[in-house]
Amino acid sequence: MSDTKWDPIQYNKVADFVAKLGEPLIDLLEPKLSDVILDLGCGDGSLTQKIKPLCANVIGVDASAEMISAANQKGITAYVKDAQCLDFTETFDCVLSNAALHWMKAPEKVIKGVHEALKPNGRFVAEFGGYGNAGKVIDTLTHRLNQDGLEFENPWYFPTAEDYSTLLLQQGFELEYIQLFDRFTPLPEHLSDWLEAFGQAFFKNASEAQKRDIVEDVVTALKSELFVNNQWHVDYVRLRVKALKH
Ligand code: BEZ
Repeated sequence: MSDTKWDPIQYNKVADFVAKLGEPLIDLLEPKLSDVILDLGCGDGSLTQKIKPLCANVIGVDASAEMISAANQKGITAYVKDAQCLDFTETFDCVLSNAALHWMKAPEKVIKGVHEALKPNGRFVAEFGGYGNAGKVIDTLTHRLNQDGLEFENPWYFPTAEDYSTLLLQQGFELEYIQLFDRFTPLPEHLSDWLEAFGQAFFKNASEAQKRDIVEDVVTALKSELFVNNQWHVDYVRLRVKALKH
């Protein structure tokens, strides 16, 4: 996991759309009232809360203690746990994950842990950033960081459908559905807020003044493409997947 610091109040301001856009995942999951579900990377529990009335039990895990505290305050049973180190054995009928797996750079460990956590016939349904996600933002930002000779870390894993399918099949999953699709996504706030909240790893060697200049330049460079109808957007690409354990 990256060292990104999560502030649930700030997150809610800049990313309240994330749980809303995750709702189609619930349709793909087709939860049953008898299901016990794990929400992997549950964040502040906004989507978990929507699943709760649709199943027997749902628990959330997330690597951020701040996010788990926000989920607990919503009445969600949730624990601090890195999804790359899961230790459940045949506990869940379904594992669901929305907008979280791209923060985990060891996907084979995540998939192994999910496979072990599922009961036989269990379902794994996930959506996260896929190949090319936020490509315009990342290209512009990394180009600008390079101009200043600043070393940075890219904290994200955005696989192709082919690469992720291979990992799932290697682990013994049957693939029911996988799709990579563009979703040009409006932001509730300014692009600079998005960069501030999610791009922390890119700025780890920049001073506050350098960061301010770089963000300003990136925003200026992207305005003609990403400021549309008076609103900032990010060129998201999603990978949506459903896999079955036998
Ligand atoms: C995403 O949901 O694709 C995403 C969000 C924040 C940073 C990077 C990707």
